[in-house]
Amino acid sequence: MAVIENTQLRGTLLAIEEINAAGGINGRELVPLIYDPASESAAFGRYAKRLMVEDHVTTIFGCYTSSSRKAVLPVVERLNGLLWYPTLYEGFEFSPNIIYTGAAPNQNSVALCRYLMDHYGPRFYFVGSDYVYPRESNRIMRDVLRNNGGEVVGEVYLNLRAKRRDFQPVIRDISELRPDVIFSTVVGDSTVHLYQSYADAGFDPKVMPIASLTTTEAEVCAMGFDVGEGHITAAPYFQCIGGERNSSFVKRYKKRYGESEPTNMCVEAAYFQVHVFARTLQQTNSMETEILRPMVLGSTFDAPQGPISINPACSHADLWTRIGRVNRRGQFEVLQQSLSPVLADPYLIGYGRSMVSGQG
Ligand code: ACM
Repeated sequence: MAVIENTQLRGTLLAIEEINAAGGINGRELVPLIYDPASESAAFGRYAKRLMVEDHVTTIFGCYTSSSRKAVLPVVERLNGLLWYPTLYEGFEFSPNIIYTGAAPNQNSVALCRYLMDHYGPRFYFVGSDYVYPRESNRIMRDVLRNNGGEVVGEVYLNLRAKRRDFQPVIRDISELRPDVIFSTVVGDSTVHLYQSYADAGFDPKVMPIASLTTTEAEVCAMGFDVGEGHITAAPYFQCIGGERNSSFVKRYKKRYGESEPTNMCVEAAYFQVHVFARTLQQTNSMETEILRPMVLGSTFDAPQGPISINPACSHADLWTRIGRVNRRGQFEVLQQSLSPVLADPYLIGYGRSMVSGQG
């Protein structure tokens, strides 16, 4: 997961550096303690425990995969810590000890499904990495698709460490079935192998794109712009969305990490959540979860994606919904976006059987 996890670390550190450069919090410097679990979910749980028990840390920022979050969840619940989780995920979870700042399915999957059905057709092929996020995310996508008259024509899961050759049978399957859309929940380095195998097969994204919730500017950079061009992702944030707040964020990120390093939705969430935390800490002047948490809930922030808030009903952020297509410079051109932030609804309570009448 290094391709994307590293960018979350960078977003986190950029925010910490900005806060310290502005004088810290109530005159005190923020000092990050960093462990690298090397993408092993169980190690996330072990390090979380070490942070809380040995290092006396009460607030943790991180986790990309849902399996790593699920390893940290019991630790922060038992020891009453606060985990800030900056990644899109499958929803259907609530912990009083987690602040969720990435998109839930009602903020990405629902709009993406509708867009793809309208523009490409109703026959979807699912390909994913084999763990909780892809299987659960596909359960929701299947429901939305079927309730709107679409069908899943194929579904396959590959090991998280899948290499190029592992995608060959998938590509053969796709050649035979000819779906309208390939919905990918492949994550991390394997993403590069899926998109490159697609390109090698000579498929055309204009007629059968790969659509995803996880393929960001970072993965597109890793696979090559020519390989990513024409494919589609739904996310709250893309580097190219414009706006003054975002332009200055992108400029600062590039100044810190290099001109060729793009921002992405995971950098942005990792970045703004530290600022939300800092603002709250400034008011509470206490790291106690019981004191911090009520102040975090309901707070708002002018993030690079636009104004966001932490929804007090569910500890998930109200975020923007955007659908973008990769251009030849490796950037996403926005095809569609919400008019305002979409309220977080991690249990899809506001969505009826048709799934088209809900928020957003
Ligand atoms: C994910 O595992 N939530 C991308």
